[in-house]
Amino acid sequence: MKVAVLGAAGGIGQALSLLLKTQLPAGTELALYDVAPVVPGVAVDLSHIPTDVKVEGFGKDDLAKALSGSDIVLIPAGVPRKPGMDRSDLFNINAGIVRNLVDGVADNCPEACVCIITNPVNTTVAIAAEALKAKGVYNKNKLFGVTTLDVIRAETFVGNLRGLNPANVHVPVIGGHSGTTILPLLSQVEGVEFTDEEVASLTTRIQNAGTEVVEAKAGGGSATLSMGQAAARFCLSLVSAMRGENVVEYTYVETNSDDAQFFSHPVRLGKNGVEEILPYGELSDFEQKAKESMLEGLRGDIKLGVEFVNN
Ligand code: NAI
Repeated sequence: MKVAVLGAAGGIGQALSLLLKTQLPAGTELALYDVAPVVPGVAVDLSHIPTDVKVEGFGKDDLAKALSGSDIVLIPAGVPRKPGMDRSDLFNINAGIVRNLVDGVADNCPEACVCIITNPVNTTVAIAAEALKAKGVYNKNKLFGVTTLDVIRAETFVGNLRGLNPANVHVPVIGGHSGTTILPLLSQVEGVEFTDEEVASLTTRIQNAGTEVVEAKAGGGSATLSMGQAAARFCLSLVSAMRGENVVEYTYVETNSDDAQFFSHPVRLGKNGVEEILPYGELSDFEQKAKESMLEGLRGDIKLGVEFVNN
């Protein structure tokens, strides 16, 4: 199996590549691509860790080589937020980056599962889908927006609030990946009850958790280490599923449901990516209202991505 990380020299890219070097199954190849000249050095650095995962670095002109034969492509390339910025403020720079990289995927490993981390995810996933369609290689079962960070944040905050080990807490998070489009389903957390006030404040904290990091880093970027962990979890789940294990993750995929064209759902992963999109179950009144009031914004984010490629 071969996994490629595009944007591997960045904050997320390096954390993610480290976790993959130490946790991917023996025999996996790990290809690190970035336009930053430090990328070969990142690969050499990681190659000194004694695991049976072969790491290779690829610079600016070697995207085709990095991608060739890849089964999974993870894309954290692009600029992160600074204080005062919304994820949508990143669109102008990141849209073109994602489009070019996904064109490379279409040309070099059209069968690969593509996992988009670059923000604004609500929009960049739609860009990726349209770019793959334009090349005639789109498979909706193999394109994922990585929203795992919202899930792990929700698990941490709920665990901390109730004094539970966060590693044993499971919180469904549906919708998209920005502001109010992030919808944690606290009514579905097993064995934990919340007051209305707790639901309101936890929901807001989960939705704004990215901004907590952006402000704490004071101009130094957004979440990289927790995002590296979240992306590694998603990638390792995909690898396990491709090897025949039964794995469910929440991820932003094409559903074409009444909600929106793309929506984060629980998804059963398998050898070919999405095996089954599972229902997200019954919503509380609070969650139902929150969903209804964010759908228009989410659909607008998706439309922006579709139009970016087609106009
Ligand atoms: P960073 O600036 O540390 O790293 C980005 C890397 O991308 C740099 O090494 C840069 O050289 C590289 N890059 C830029 N253009 C490229 C291209 N055309 N091809 C290959 N590499 C290219 O940024 P960081 O913190 O790693 O964030 C990356 C992205 O991930 C941002 O868009 C950020 O908003 C997003 N993000 C997504 C999250 C999610 O939950 N999905 C959470 C946190 C951040």
